[in-house]
Amino acid sequence: MPPSTAVPSTSAAAPRPNGLAATWTKLWPYLWPHGRPDLQRRVFLAFGLLLVAKGVTMVTPFAFKWATDALVAVTGGNQGAEAAATAGSWLWKAPILLTVIYGITRILMAVLTQLRDGLFAKVAMHAVRNLALQTFEHMHRLSLRFHLERKTGGLTRVLERGREGIEELSRLVVLTLLPTILEFLLVLGLLAWEFNWLYSAVVFVMVVVYLAYTYKATQWRISIRKQMNDSDTDANTKAVDSLLNYETVKYFGAEQRETARYDRSMEKFEKASTQTYTSLAVLNAGQAVIFSIGMAIVMVLAARDIMAGRASIGSFVLVNAMLVQLYIPLNFMGMLYREIKQALIDIDDMFAIIERNPEIQDRPGAEPLQVAEGVVRFEDVHFAYIPERPILKGVSFEVPAGHTVAIVGPSGAGKSTISRLLFRFYEPTSGRILIDGQDIAEVQQASLRKVIGMVPQDTVLFNDTIGYNIQYGRWDASPEEVRGAARLAQIDRFISLLPEGYDTPVGERGLKLSGGEKQRVAIARTILKSPPILVLDEATSALDTFTEKEIQDALDRVSRGRTTLVIAHRLSTVIGADEIIVLDQGRVVERGNHASLLAHGGVYAAMWNRQREADQARETLKRAEEEERSPESVAG
Ligand SMILES: Nc1ncnc2c1ncn2[C@@H]1O[C@H](COP(=O)(O)OP(=O)(O)OP(=O)(O)O)[C@@H](O)[C@H]1O
Ligand SMILES: [Mg+2]
Repeated sequence: MPPSTAVPSTSAAAPRPNGLAATWTKLWPYLWPHGRPDLQRRVFLAFGLLLVAKGVTMVTPFAFKWATDALVAVTGGNQGAEAAATAGSWLWKAPILLTVIYGITRILMAVLTQLRDGLFAKVAMHAVRNLALQTFEHMHRLSLRFHLERKTGGLTRVLERGREGIEELSRLVVLTLLPTILEFLLVLGLLAWEFNWLYSAVVFVMVVVYLAYTYKATQWRISIRKQMNDSDTDANTKAVDSLLNYETVKYFGAEQRETARYDRSMEKFEKASTQTYTSLAVLNAGQAVIFSIGMAIVMVLAARDIMAGRASIGSFVLVNAMLVQLYIPLNFMGMLYREIKQALIDIDDMFAIIERNPEIQDRPGAEPLQVAEGVVRFEDVHFAYIPERPILKGVSFEVPAGHTVAIVGPSGAGKSTISRLLFRFYEPTSGRILIDGQDIAEVQQASLRKVIGMVPQDTVLFNDTIGYNIQYGRWDASPEEVRGAARLAQIDRFISLLPEGYDTPVGERGLKLSGGEKQRVAIARTILKSPPILVLDEATSALDTFTEKEIQDALDRVSRGRTTLVIAHRLSTVIGADEIIVLDQGRVVERGNHASLLAHGGVYAAMWNRQREADQARETLKRAEEEERSPESVAG
C-alpha cells in the first residue's frame, strides 16, 4: 500500500465510527445471505480452507525442524554418517525427504490461501452489490428535500466509498485479521506444547507490546498524514487560483508575490511530507526492534534448552521459522488498523443513508388513489420550506374535472411550490389537497404520481438518446406511439433533421439540446404517459413566439378532457383557461376568467397591460429593424 492512497479523507468531518463489532453485525446478514445456500457454502468452505491453510502453515516450521534434526542425526557424529552412507540406510534419505515435505507445505500454504481468497471474493462482491442496490433504492425513496440539501456528487461518493469499504472490510477481516489471530493462537499453543509456557508468554508479551506500539504510532501518523494532505490541497488551490487569475497577476506585476505565496504552501507540504516518511521509518524501526527483542529472547530460551539437552538442534530453527512467519502478518497491522478504521467510517455513512427515514411515507394501510373524474382541490393550504418563511398562506382553489385552471403571478409567488405539493414532494403544514375527494396524504404515493403528468419548469434529461428520454414516459410504448407523442409535441420535425434521428444522444442533463427542444421532449414523454391530470409549469417558457403558438395548440389538444393546472408567466398562454388564479406572496389575490379579470382592473389587468406594452415595444422595434434593412435589399 503506497502511503498516499490510504488517506482517511473524511476523518475530520466524519462522525466517530461505530465499533468494528457493531458495523460487523449489520454487515453480517449480507455476508451470510439467507436464501443463498451456495454463498453460505462458500463462506463455510472459505473458513474451512482458512483452518487447513493455517494448519499447514504450522506444519511448515516443523518440517524445517524435522529436516534439521535428521541432518544433525546423519552428520552430527561424522563417524555415524559414513556408516549410514555406506549402509545406504533410510536415515541418509530422511533429511532429503523432510526437506521436500517442507517445500510441499510451503506450496500448499500459498495455494490454499489463494483458493480461500478466490472463494470468498464472490461472497464479498455479492454483499457489495446487495448493499449498494439497497442504498440506491433507498436514495430514490428519500424525499426531495433530502436530495436538494445533499449534493448529488456527495451522494454518489457515499455510495462509491461505502462499496469500497465493504469490500475492504470483509476482505481485511476475513482474509487478514482472522487468520492472523488464528495463527497467533496456534503459535502460542504450539510453543507451549513443544517447549513450555515461558516461550508462549514471551511471544504473547512481544505481540501485545508490538500491537500497542503500532496503534499509537499509527494514530500519530494519521494526524501527520492529514496535515500533509491539507497542505497539499492548500498548495494546489493556491496554484489553481493564481493561474486562473493570470491576467490580474500581470496587471499588477505580482508574479514574484504569487511565487512566494505558492512557495510558502509548498514549504508546509515539504515539512509535512518529510514527516510522513520519517514517521514511517520510526514506525517500522520500532516494530522491528520490538519483534527482534522478542525473537532473540525466545531463541536464547531455545539455545539454553538445547545446551541442557532438553531440546534438539532443530528447535532452534523451529522457533526462528515460526516467528519469522508470524512477522509477515504482524507487519500489516498498522495498515490494517488504518484501513479498517476508514472502511468503518465509509460503511457507516452508507448505513446512515439506509437507516434514514424518508420524510414522506405512505401511511400504514394507505390505499391506492382511485381516479374517476380527476377533480383537484386545494383547501386552505399553508406551506413553508423552512418554518421561518411561509411560502403559501392559505391557498384554496378547485380544478373541476377536465377543466383548465391557470396560476399566474410574480416570480417567487409559490406557483411551482403548488405543483410540488400536488405531486407530494412535500407535505402542507396545514390544509388538504384532494383528488376526487381523497386526501393525497392518505393514499399510496406511487398511485398518486401515476395519475399526474408533470412538465416541469426546468427539464433535465437522461444522458441517453432522445428516443429513450421520450419513451421514459411509458416504458411499454411502441415505437409508433413514441413517434406519435413526438409529433404531438412538435418535436418530430427536429428529430427527422438529425442524422441519427431518435438515437441521437442528448448529452449530460440534456445539454446538447436547446431549452425549447428539451421542453418539447418533456412534453412528448408526458403525452406518452397520458395521465388524467396534467401540470404544466411554464411549459412553453423556453420557446420563441412561433413555436410557442404551435406547442400551445399541441398542449390544448393534449389537455382537452384532462384536468389541467397551467402555471405561466406569459399571460397570452392562459387566455383560454377556464379560471385564472392570481397568486401573490403565497395568497390568491384574484380569480376569474380572462375577460372578467381584465374588466376588474386589478393586479391581473395591470400585468396584462405591462406584458402587452412590452410585446408591442418589441414588435415596433422589430418592424423598425426590418424597414431599415429593406431599402438595401431593394437596392441590392
Ligand atoms: N427547496 C426550497 N427550500 C427553500 N425555499 C425554497 C425552496 N424551493 C423554493 N423556495 C422558495 O419558495 C419561494 C416560491 O418558490 P416557487 O418555485 O414556488 O416560485 P414560483 O412562483 O414558481 O416562481 P417562478 O415564477 O420564478 O418559477 C421562492 O421564494 C423560493 O426561493
Ligand atoms: Mg416556478
